[in-house]
Amino acid sequence: MVASPYLAILALLALALLRVSVTLYYRARSPLQSVPGPWLSKWTSVVTDYHWFRGQRAFYVERLHKQYGPVICLGPTEVAFSSTSAAKTIHSYTRPFLKTSFYSKLRRYGGHDSVFTARGMEQHARYRRLLSGPMSESSLKSVEHIVRARVDLAIERMDEEMKRRGAVDVMKWWQFFSTDVIGELTFGESFRMLEIGKKNQYVEDLEKIATVGGLRIAFPTLMRLATKLPLPFLRDLSATDLRLRNYPIESIQRYRNIIAADPWNPKPTLFTKLFKAGEEGLSQQEIVSNAEAYIVAGSDTTAHTLTYLVWAVCRESEVKTRLVEEVTALPDGYTNEDLKQLPYLNQVLDEILRLFSAAPSSLPREVPKGGFEVDGYWIPGGVTVSTQAYSMHRNPVLFPEPERFNPSRWESPKKEMRDAWMAFGGGARACLGIHLAYMELRQATVKFFRTYPNAKVSSLEGFSDDDMEQVIYFLMFPKNKRCLIQTS
Ligand code: HEM
Repeated sequence: MVASPYLAILALLALALLRVSVTLYYRARSPLQSVPGPWLSKWTSVVTDYHWFRGQRAFYVERLHKQYGPVICLGPTEVAFSSTSAAKTIHSYTRPFLKTSFYSKLRRYGGHDSVFTARGMEQHARYRRLLSGPMSESSLKSVEHIVRARVDLAIERMDEEMKRRGAVDVMKWWQFFSTDVIGELTFGESFRMLEIGKKNQYVEDLEKIATVGGLRIAFPTLMRLATKLPLPFLRDLSATDLRLRNYPIESIQRYRNIIAADPWNPKPTLFTKLFKAGEEGLSQQEIVSNAEAYIVAGSDTTAHTLTYLVWAVCRESEVKTRLVEEVTALPDGYTNEDLKQLPYLNQVLDEILRLFSAAPSSLPREVPKGGFEVDGYWIPGGVTVSTQAYSMHRNPVLFPEPERFNPSRWESPKKEMRDAWMAFGGGARACLGIHLAYMELRQATVKFFRTYPNAKVSSLEGFSDDDMEQVIYFLMFPKNKRCLIQTS
């Protein structure tokens, strides 16, 4: 009787040892042992996870690519690729590798899948079918005036801040702008951030989304227990998480009220079909999850791209002069169609999305059952494979001096450059909001540089290049979440 607790402990230890031995045995025999990379990665992903936790994983992966080449082992069940041939295999239109469980962790607890997190092809295709029509280039023509009105208001508010403060935090205003646009287009009513004009709880929560999402992916159990642990930092993040869940619920309710007030003539939104589908069987939770996906995917991405664009252009006087010349030559009543034809503006956009992609990190996908050969390596089924725009966009052969912001490299780009450019992802899971994103980016850039041809980077309040250092979890943001520009 006395020996039994010891026996139980011994039995547990023996079991644990057996489990570790079996795992090590399989890892030693894994085909991933022959994939280049640090020896430790063949046995554990702890180093990669550590860099993820610090918002530095993309830089770590890039360093490994520089050291070991285009194929690297990141953990016993993960391989990263940086060639266009691998990207085509992994992100194909017809036989795409499915998204991994990484995306399920981005779902809220008890929450349903969205078009972004859905892993199965059928479920994804169903969401995409319902959502893609209103996001097409031709459908978006009908909302051009809304985007334009929000750009105009953003610039008005920037003017006021410039007079008051001596500089403008363009990051804040682009955040308000993109949040208002996605709110109005999705739910029929803007979040009125531009009118309110200061960061409220909602914007502060949105700013934490990359960190919250990052922690939820790395430590799902910890985040689930966060409300019960006596750690203020975790409790705070957990409260943020909960509020982020409630915003779309409230917004959907507001839209339902709009419909109820005028049922025969409801204001059409990007979501109208989804609401109709609700009657045909799309659950309220599915609508909420898709609404949340739109708010997250459609606000910071555009805002951060615009922030880096203004900052990068203002630092390069030659670039600014060329861009200003082009946009000031436009007639007053220009349309989105006119903007699409501006060659230099397009080069600036290609280049900013290359160097400061808003979603530049690994897009993890699962190798199908039975395994698959990618770039000459046999990868067993179930292993995670990924490509990251951060590395593909820095291939020095295709993009000489990769860290240099040089829009002219897109004047007559080689096909290989286009193939390697993955700012909006690729294949069947490429960005659904690409046309909306371009409309916002073009309208905002043109209005900004027509209004402020002499804009320059400010040093007010100690602002410097250091503030703009990139932090990357899944989405990218500037380290200090501000970007001060002097508009005259
Ligand atoms: C400059 C702005 C943007 C960038 C750089 C960007 C980038 C991306 C990337 C890289 C992906 C693929 C993610 C993956 O494979 O895991 C993606 C997917 C997605 N994006 Fe965007 N995005 C932008 C703007 C927008 C906007 C304005 C919306 C509007 C709602 C949007 C909605 C989505 C959705 C719904 C998906 C998931 C598509 C699917 O899985 O079928 N994005 N985006």
